[in-house]
This record gives sequence, structure tokens and C-alpha cells, in this order.
Amino acid sequence: MSFRLQPPAPARPNRCQLFGPGSRPELFAKMAASAADVINLDLEDSVAPADKAQARANIIRAISGVDWGRKTLSVRINGLDTPYWYRDVVDLLEQAGERLDQIMIPKVGCAADVYAMDALVTACEAAAGRQKRISLEVIIETAAGIAHVEEIAASSPRLQAMSLGAADFAASMGMQTTGIGGTQENYYMLREGRKYWADPWHWAQAAIVAACRTHGILPVDGPFGDFSDDEGFRAQARRSATLGMVGKWAIHPKQVALANEVFTPSEAAVREAREILAAMEAAKAAGQGAATYKGRLVDIASMRQAEVIVRQAEMIAGAS
Ligand code: COA
Ligand code: MG
Repeated sequence: MSFRLQPPAPARPNRCQLFGPGSRPELFAKMAASAADVINLDLEDSVAPADKAQARANIIRAISGVDWGRKTLSVRINGLDTPYWYRDVVDLLEQAGERLDQIMIPKVGCAADVYAMDALVTACEAAAGRQKRISLEVIIETAAGIAHVEEIAASSPRLQAMSLGAADFAASMGMQTTGIGGTQENYYMLREGRKYWADPWHWAQAAIVAACRTHGILPVDGPFGDFSDDEGFRAQARRSATLGMVGKWAIHPKQVALANEVFTPSEAAVREAREILAAMEAAKAAGQGAATYKGRLVDIASMRQAEVIVRQAEMIAGAS
């Protein structure tokens, strides 16, 4: 380990972030009753320009009017390139109750975007006498966002989570696709005349995970648009979990259970992790740094891997 230790990410479950448009208040109670760990009430791209003011008012009312249980409650505001974002922040922090936990900033392009938000949030909190410090989350969904991902991850002590937004990311990058996440028909390798599909989101996800883990932020996979395709969602989510992401968005309630299933370590995985830890304890007691577990090498690095799974399972169990 470097002399500079890797900070832990916030110890709260973030397996699923369920989104709903601020302009559809009839959905809010259903969102609150869902099994999602995080709720994202949206003021941005699911709300038409003419509905922005009404959506803001709906959300402000619902923040204290709906019982959100123990969920993390977040509002996605409009981007810094719009005329709406400052009013989103000011109205939320002046008028919404203390139940609001987090603000999500879309289309972040550089650390200064988060700095600007932090400055405005700090001033609004002080002026309104708010007791709870609002946390921030960002979406990496532009070429600039991924190019500056590390400075963004380091940008503010308020920052808790970072998501990959596949649709805007694809648009900003000029990718030839209209799909939101998942397998892309034209992204394949050829061998002996057969196609093998690869993952065009992989590098962006890995860059986000590395930036997040360096700075103690939760890395999250964004939307999977085809909510009729459960297996496609599972496959995308399993790849994200394998790369180190802690959760995924749901843009329809049927995706919540799928995300929770994938991002909750399975009983078998937890059992195996505990067996590895026990095998290593026995090895240590015998004065050895490595051991054999089910015919394969386990060493002190294996303990760290196993601890990731056990800690995640314990944190989720403790929070539920
Ligand atoms: N949260 C909670 N419940 C939701 C919901 C959501 N986001 N979306 C739909 N529901 C409810 C519906 O009200 C309906 O409930 P009912 O069985 O009591 O009638 C049920 O789930 C089935 O909904 P369905 O008819 O399949 O969906 P729809 O046509 O009403 O809406 C979408 C489909 C995709 C437009 C809607 O799910 C949606 O707006 N999703 C979020 C979009 C968003 O926020 N995007 C921004 C982030 S990318
Ligand atoms: Mg977007």
C-alpha cells in the first residue's frame, strides 16, 4: 500500500438507485415503498422544460410529505449549462425539509463544476440554518467527465457517489448507438467467421471505479434502458459488480429486485469468503503466508478480496 492509504467509501447500501420524474408525483409513494436503497427524484432529463417549476414544487412537497424510510433521498438537479440549476439548489435548500440527503449533479465535466455546487450548497445551508450537511453525487456522462474523472472524484468532501450515464456518455463520445447500456450489436471481434461481443462500457467503468476507490467514493452503474430485458440487465449489472461497482440505477420498478439480487453478495460467495479467511487464519497460526483452498492458492491478498465480500454483506445486513 502507498503511504497514502485508500479511504473507505461511505458505508451505506447503494445497490439500487430508483429514478422517477419530478413531474409524476403519483409515483413518489410507490418509489418510497420500493426496495431501492437510494431514491433519485428527477428534475433533469425526464422533465420537460415547461414542467421544471412544477416538478421542483412537487419534489419539495414530497421530501417532507412522503415517508422515505431509511433510504438515501437524492434529487437530480439540472446541469450547470442550463438556466435551471441554481434555482433547483436554492429552492431545495431553502424550502425542502431536512429529510433531503443528497443532490445529484448531471453531466459533470471538471472538478470546478463540483466546486461551484459545493460553494452554492454551503452558502444556502448556512443562510437557511440547515442542520444536515447535504452530500453530493455526480454522473460521468460526457467526454470531459471521463477525461477528468480523477480530479472530479477528488473534488469535494461532500462527494459520496459517482455514476456512469451510458446514454449521454454515448452521445457525447459520438458513439454510433441509441441503446442505453448493455451489448452493442456492432462492437464485436471476429474469429474464424464467428462474432464475439465485447463490452464498450468496460473502460469507462474501470476508470470510474479506479477514481472512486482512490478517493473513497461509491462507484455506480447507471441506467439500462430496455426494461423488458431482465437477462440483459443482469448481464450488465454482473459485469459492473465484477469490476467493483456497488450498484445500478433502476429506471423502472421491475429493475429494483434485479439490482438488489446482483449487488447483494450471494450466500455462497459469503460462505466461500469466510472459508478463505478461516484457511488463512490457520495458515498464519502455522507461520505461513499462503495456503491451499479447494486446490488453489490463497494468500494475504486473497484475504483482502474475501474481506471486501464479507464487509459488503455485513454492511447490507446491518442496514436492513
Ligand atoms: N418508480 C416507481 N413506480 C413506477 C415507476 C417509477 N419510476 N415507473 C412506473 N411505476 C409504476 C407505475 O405507476 C405502475 O404502477 P401500478 O401497477 O400501480 O399502476 C407500475 O409501476 C408499472 O408501470 P408501467 O405502466 O410499466 O410504466 P409507465 O408506463 O407508467 O412508465 C416509464 C414507464 C419508463 C416512463 C417510467 O417508469 C419512468 O418514468 N421511469 C423513470 C424515468 C426517469 O426517471 N429517467 C431519468 C433517469 S434515466
Ligand atoms: Mg443523462
